[in-house]
Amino acid sequence: MYILEKGLLPLEHYFTNNANLKSEIRELIYTIANTEFKFLSDNGVFAKNKIDYGSAFLVSQFLKQHLDITGSHILDVGCGYGFIGIVISKLRKTKVDLIDVNKRALHLCERNIKINKVDCQAYISDCYENVDNKYDYIITNPPIRAGKVVVEKILLEAKNYLQDQGELWFVIHKDQGAKSMQKILEKQYSVEIIAKSKGFFVFCAKIY
Ligand SMILES: C[S@@+](CC[C@H](N)C(=O)[O-])C[C@H]1O[C@@H](n2cnc3c(N)ncnc32)[C@H](O)[C@@H]1O
Repeated sequence: MYILEKGLLPLEHYFTNNANLKSEIRELIYTIANTEFKFLSDNGVFAKNKIDYGSAFLVSQFLKQHLDITGSHILDVGCGYGFIGIVISKLRKTKVDLIDVNKRALHLCERNIKINKVDCQAYISDCYENVDNKYDYIITNPPIRAGKVVVEKILLEAKNYLQDQGELWFVIHKDQGAKSMQKILEKQYSVEIIAKSKGFFVFCAKIY
């Protein structure tokens, strides 16, 4: 391997599984709607030191438009340590499944589900590989760094895992292709920009 021969460390991403990466668990506290959440985070996962602004913006917009969705079933794709799914599950009393490819993130997510006492289930899945339910809502802050192929797969294949009236909610920054992704999705969904903040676009896509 060229990189190793050069004596440099191979590139690490937040979505790669590397059990050898030193663990340094930290606690992140996040308050929304007068409810305090605690999240365990670690090296090798997305937003390890601070809840991501884009994810927080996505969650706030989703909650604003869904005041009563009791009984809904939601899928959080690329859940990381579980911020999006856990907050929505707690505040809207809904059942949320959370999936990711990163084992360390999933392990944290399982602990965070217990800590925050929510009705959630986390499991490993490369995109929808292990998903066999249909959901009322699919929500994601997609893994831009995993590349366009993965992001498009997560967003375009969501329709196969949504109920007929289901909604796909996602956030993308304008500098990470928000507008071009909107154009791609418009071939298969009706896409609405819900809100923009600091360059982040929150979208809702519905099957035609
Ligand atoms: C931008 S991060 C969002 C993490 C978390 N939802 C949050 O808001 O903090 C994207 C997540 O997608 C995961 N991911 C990357 N490739 C994936 C794939 N092929 N299938 C499922 N998840 C993937 C990464 O491990 C990462 O946790």
